[in-house]
Amino acid sequence: MKNRTLAIIKPDGVRDQVVGAIIDKIQKNGFHILAMKLSKLTKESAGEFYAVHKGRPFYDELVTFMSSGACVPIVLEKENAVAEFRNLIGATDPAEAAENTIRKLFAKSKGENVIHGSDSDEMQK
Ligand code: CMP
Repeated sequence: MKNRTLAIIKPDGVRDQVVGAIIDKIQKNGFHILAMKLSKLTKESAGEFYAVHKGRPFYDELVTFMSSGACVPIVLEKENAVAEFRNLIGATDPAEAAENTIRKLFAKSKGENVIHGSDSDEMQK
């Protein structure tokens, strides 16, 4: 069944000028873009978005980073979109990500890892 997932190209991706390359990769993997914009999160909205990680050692750093510049949220559609997109982006730490995944190709570190993908159909995380 076709379903939707939320991708966010993070501020490092916008700063490093790899938005086009990442979108190209996403589309070549069969995802359809339903909505997309350039948007800067406030610290408050980044904190709410990542509320599930509140209390973890990297939380403050994550919220500061996610609100440090513009990002590109994208709603995508494909068969089995959530799981397929998690496969395409690769492991959280780019050093552990599989070859040819977006994080392996474009991310520098676990904290600044270029892209987010929902981990459930709730479309909140
Ligand atoms: P993301 O998939 O957006 O979801 C939570 C984010 O927290 C994750 O990507 C990383 O960017 C960040 N994160 C997870 N673990 C760590 C860590 N150990 N150190 C720094 N950031 C982390």
